[in-house]
Amino acid sequence: MTDQNTTDESQARAADSGAGATAAFQSKTGQGAGLEDVTPERVSTLATEVLAAVHDTIRRHKVTYAEYDALKAWLISVGEDGEWPLFLDVWVEHVVEEVANEGRECTKGSIEGPYYVPDAPALPADAKLPMREDESGTPLLFQGQVTRVGGDVVAGAKVEIWQADALGFYSQYAPGIPEWNLRGTVIADDEGRYRIHTLQPAPYQIPTDGSCGKLIAAAGWHAWRPAHLHLKVSAPDHRLITTQLYFPGDPHNEDDIASAVKPELMLDIEPAESGEGEQTTYNFVLDPA
Ligand code: DHB
Ligand code: FE
Repeated sequence: MTDQNTTDESQARAADSGAGATAAFQSKTGQGAGLEDVTPERVSTLATEVLAAVHDTIRRHKVTYAEYDALKAWLISVGEDGEWPLFLDVWVEHVVEEVANEGRECTKGSIEGPYYVPDAPALPADAKLPMREDESGTPLLFQGQVTRVGGDVVAGAKVEIWQADALGFYSQYAPGIPEWNLRGTVIADDEGRYRIHTLQPAPYQIPTDGSCGKLIAAAGWHAWRPAHLHLKVSAPDHRLITTQLYFPGDPHNEDDIASAVKPELMLDIEPAESGEGEQTTYNFVLDPA
């Protein structure tokens, strides 16, 4: 392998991004956070029903010992690769998000995924995301306004944005990318407006060389997510929105491996007025807290 100076994102390995995502999750929730916060009745109900669904699948498909052992080996390797956050966020989170945000009037949410990092550098309402001098990709002006349900503007709303680069990698989860590349916390102006200069992200393949990749290959699935921007939009006295925005025409809008695309989250892309690249306007509506 190469040393730190010559390692770049083309050498990214699933085990690195997996370990990073696992560490980030553990630092967010604290070691051991979780089960003790759920009542025994609730744990018992949910665990019993999940296990019953597994038992039912085994009976209906007459699962063999060879298949049971393959499952055991695979589950062990998911942990070893640190890929539990990735597995859960790709195949489970979208339903948790659906249930959590049921009935909200605000802009639609979508999954957070494994690569959010809190406290990205604060940027003014008209800002360029941190990027390398030679960052490749089509320039994209992402602009809009934050209001609350009913129409009042939300002055100074916080628009956190993070995205993959043109090769589909996220800073802090692949080697050789500057720490805050393509991440920022944009503070909207007094009318809730923001103008964020970034680049069109590329479609993104979840790591194929780890356990999740192994499952995908063994099942004959594909590993693609459509190109997307990740966002968290928030303001005091309002409920946070975690969502993603998508680009029309991406073939994986129809078959996102993470099932996280919604029609309301499709951007409308037009040539930039500046003549350079593209621009898009997307407005967010927040629920009061
Ligand atoms: C994964 C990556 C993403 O960028 C995302 O939005 C969702 C899931 C993943 O690799 O698990
Ligand atoms: Fe993503």
